[in-house]
Amino acid sequence: MRERDDHNRHKSGVVWLTGLSGAGKSTLAVGLCEALLRRGYRAYVLDGDNIRAGLNSDLGFSHADRVENIRRAGEMAALFEDAGMICISAFISPYRSERETARRAARRFHEVYVKADLATCERRDPKGLYRKARAGVIENFTGIDDVYEPPENPALVIDTTVTTVEEARTLLFEYVMGQFGDAPE
Ligand code: ADX
Repeated sequence: MRERDDHNRHKSGVVWLTGLSGAGKSTLAVGLCEALLRRGYRAYVLDGDNIRAGLNSDLGFSHADRVENIRRAGEMAALFEDAGMICISAFISPYRSERETARRAARRFHEVYVKADLATCERRDPKGLYRKARAGVIENFTGIDDVYEPPENPALVIDTTVTTVEEARTLLFEYVMGQFGDAPE
């Protein structure tokens, strides 16, 4: 909404990070949010792990539950956008069609593919979940026994297999600065 943009002295919108578990979405989301807040932007992070702990605690990882998880996440991101913020959303969001639903819910939507191949994510295994998935303790794990549909035309690709965390943060920050304008007054 134009009036809200004026009020905030910066544009609002949704920066949607998609990628496999362990690709680096949450790290990048938090890093971007901190960098924006330090510069006076209003920003907020929605993350699969925290949203699933509360609002979406009734949902699991079946196809239908992931669809509903992303539907709610997309609606919520649009509300934060409408409240004048840069909403950074970090969800695996494995299905193209659901990312498109999230795009339609928002006014400005920037799809960022946080790219890392399965072998790399599995090697990182920050939460030990890939090991559990391989052992059959967890089912429907994205990349192992559930699908991930990479974006066909993302606004930005950050390949975290070839960047350091710092480089990846800088790439994302510079992209977002280019989209949301110079530092607010
Ligand atoms: S999404 O597929 O519905 O978009 P979301 O991003 O909310 O997933 O949640 C992913 C997080 O849930 C992972 O980072 C991981 O910590 C945890 N998780 C638990 N079980 C699974 C599973 N079967 N597949 C993927 N992630 C899982």
